[in-house]
Amino acid sequence: MFRTVTCGELRLADVSKSVTLAGWVQRIRKMGGLTFIDLRDRYGITQLALNGDKLSLADGIGREYVLQVSGVVIERQSKNMQLPTGEIEIDVQELKILNPAMTPPFTIEDETDGGDDLRMKYRYLDLRRPIVRKNLELRHKMAFEVRRYLDEQGFLEVETPVLVNSTPEGARDFIVPSRMNPGTFYALPQSPQTLKQLLMVSGFDRYFQIVKCFRDEDLRADRQPEFTQIDCEMSFVEQEDILNMFEGMSRHLFKAILNIDLPKLPRMTWADAMKYYGSDKPDTRFGMRFVELQDIFHAAEAQKAEEDKFSVFNHAAYIGGICATGCAGYTRKQLDQLTEFVRRPQVGAKGMVYARVESDGSVKSSVDKFYSPEVLAHVAQAMEAQPGDLLLILSGEDAMKTRKQLSELRLEMGRQLGLRDPKKFSCLWVVDFPMYEWSDEENRLMAMHHPFTSPKPEDIPLLDTDPAAVRANAYDMVINGVEVGGGSIRIHDAKLQEKIFEILGFTPEQAQTKFGFLMNAFKYGAPPHGGLAYGLDRFVSLFAGLDSIRDCIAFPKNNQGKDVMLGAPGVVDQIQLDELMIDVREPEKK
Ligand code: AMO
Repeated sequence: MFRTVTCGELRLADVSKSVTLAGWVQRIRKMGGLTFIDLRDRYGITQLALNGDKLSLADGIGREYVLQVSGVVIERQSKNMQLPTGEIEIDVQELKILNPAMTPPFTIEDETDGGDDLRMKYRYLDLRRPIVRKNLELRHKMAFEVRRYLDEQGFLEVETPVLVNSTPEGARDFIVPSRMNPGTFYALPQSPQTLKQLLMVSGFDRYFQIVKCFRDEDLRADRQPEFTQIDCEMSFVEQEDILNMFEGMSRHLFKAILNIDLPKLPRMTWADAMKYYGSDKPDTRFGMRFVELQDIFHAAEAQKAEEDKFSVFNHAAYIGGICATGCAGYTRKQLDQLTEFVRRPQVGAKGMVYARVESDGSVKSSVDKFYSPEVLAHVAQAMEAQPGDLLLILSGEDAMKTRKQLSELRLEMGRQLGLRDPKKFSCLWVVDFPMYEWSDEENRLMAMHHPFTSPKPEDIPLLDTDPAAVRANAYDMVINGVEVGGGSIRIHDAKLQEKIFEILGFTPEQAQTKFGFLMNAFKYGAPPHGGLAYGLDRFVSLFAGLDSIRDCIAFPKNNQGKDVMLGAPGVVDQIQLDELMIDVREPEKK
């Protein structure tokens, strides 16, 4: 046998056993007549001890050499209780170098000296670090538990193709030229949305797939150009059935992986999420809900002479505040930093008003010269502020934009106050999303979720009169301010689907060319259906408490969408381009 045990399993009870191990050299320590080697594999680290005539076996060995070692398990003199194997070591009898190794460009330890770029270039070495390996182990376990749960519920995993046509999820497609059909292109799926709906028409009433999706969009900590969805669809269901089924899946994952009993998930309408948190993915680990103050301030302004008015608030369509409990002691410098924070282009506010509630209950604010103590006391009362609290207020002419700015400020305060503990979980459903959102870029209404989402039946009449007010049977699962999953009840009526395409600005011909296959399929008996998709990468990184989904992906892309290890994307041979009839020469050379 190549090895009889792994580097993670030997304990005191194994003392005096003869064993053979294989692994990588983590560290070598020479101490006079003794040499210690830490041998590492996927399962842990075991200390090897060489002495006497065996000392020379370690000659020439360096970090990351691959060794096969045989010896006897002995009790250690100085034990390391931090390590599961820390009470024993191997008294080495035989040692074989299976492969030498170059000195790695960074230390292969949890606390490494390697920067991000270097670690990504040598990702195969980075993956040897236990901290990274554990994330992939967690990912495997989660995917496994997902399959277990869905299988038990009668879901069937069906693979759908990767070379497809454009799917309208709102991002840009990655396209692939077709050699056999010159001048035409496949698109990589942004999700298997239309295909899973076709599977419902085929009668596979409970489908799922753990599947790669591709979106050419700007990258952030929670976005990768290729990512993995747990994609699901069900027939003969209503929204309630779907929410219950997938709440059950989340409950199963929390219990099986983290041993946490997830309580019944609260539901919040999209309108309330925006009103109280300024975000469709509120972080509900902490309160600090928004309080709207425009009525109080506008009433105060109305009493004043024109020259005394505080024009910023007077002209604001929206004024909202958050109450930071116990923060009245914030220094001038800290408040200036918060003002700078909201003024950053990423947040985009013009300024910030603050008010401290003093120990005697009086209010001292940055707008004292504009408002009487009574008005400010009224504000503090509306915000349920107590002595010692700090009120932070933003205003603006565009209510939605201002709410989003206040949301950033709320999250920053939550961070500063340590209220965003990654080990604490707060999950909820956000429901009743609007069907449409206005796109300044496209100058038209766009589907907020995707064009196959069903309007709420009671809002269907509004499609003709006020489409922007129509709400959808769409829902997101949000955990700790992260959208982990989202879905909707679908339209299964070809006529209604045609109407939705029309509102989205497709001519009947365009709709037929793009989605004819789906609308035609619906004419052959489409069952009522709906579903959702989770982002597996986001789910895993939440469970692991990671800042970025990159850390739970074996070979991720960087923020420029590059795999620096593979050198992808890269140039290809002219012959390949010629076959595909693609000319990438500069215009003047064509
Ligand atoms: P949606 O576009 O909301 O819905 O995507 C579902 C979930 O996928 C994850 N996700 C991502 N994760 C990492 N990187 C990305 N670039 C990325 N984009 C999305 C999110 C998100 O909640 N077809 C519909 C689902 C449905 O209606 O059934 C869809 O794709 O966690």
